[in-house]
Amino acid sequence: MSEPPTSEPDRPRRKRREAAAPSPASLVDPAIAAPVRAAVAACREQRGNLIPILHEIQRTLGHVPEDAVPVLAEELNLSRAEVHGVITFYHDFKPSPVLGPKVQVCRAEACQAVGAEELFAAAPGLCGTVEQVFCLGNCALGPSVAIDGRVYGRMTASRLREVLA
Ligand code: FES
Repeated sequence: MSEPPTSEPDRPRRKRREAAAPSPASLVDPAIAAPVRAAVAACREQRGNLIPILHEIQRTLGHVPEDAVPVLAEELNLSRAEVHGVITFYHDFKPSPVLGPKVQVCRAEACQAVGAEELFAAAPGLCGTVEQVFCLGNCALGPSVAIDGRVYGRMTASRLREVLA
């Protein structure tokens, strides 16, 4: 026996059901949604607040999880695509927790001239995740490396190994 065609009186009921559907943000694990909403509250008044909010989320959670996207979209009245686009545009925002220290090797000209390329090639064998950056403001003391935000000059592979240890 086939289903009867949807009659006119059914339409309002379907609309009511659709209206009651949970928002994507409401389905996010509270362990993620709560710090994301806290970051929004802390930075809401700042101009261009999405970037500071993302930094705050990363500072709090150690990364910017994919589940933050629907919460941010709802809180900031943006599309999820807009939020996702900003997160993926900036390499600073990590989609999953970064294990170990954050190591950045400067590959700009002044550091290249004193051995940054060799250091950059050797670094992954010493510490896993390495990012390239272009100038840490320490050009006179290159090659320069930043480890968890602290800048070190005159870096060599063996010194990097020591500092990481
Ligand atoms: S060029 Fe490397 S710190 Fe400036």
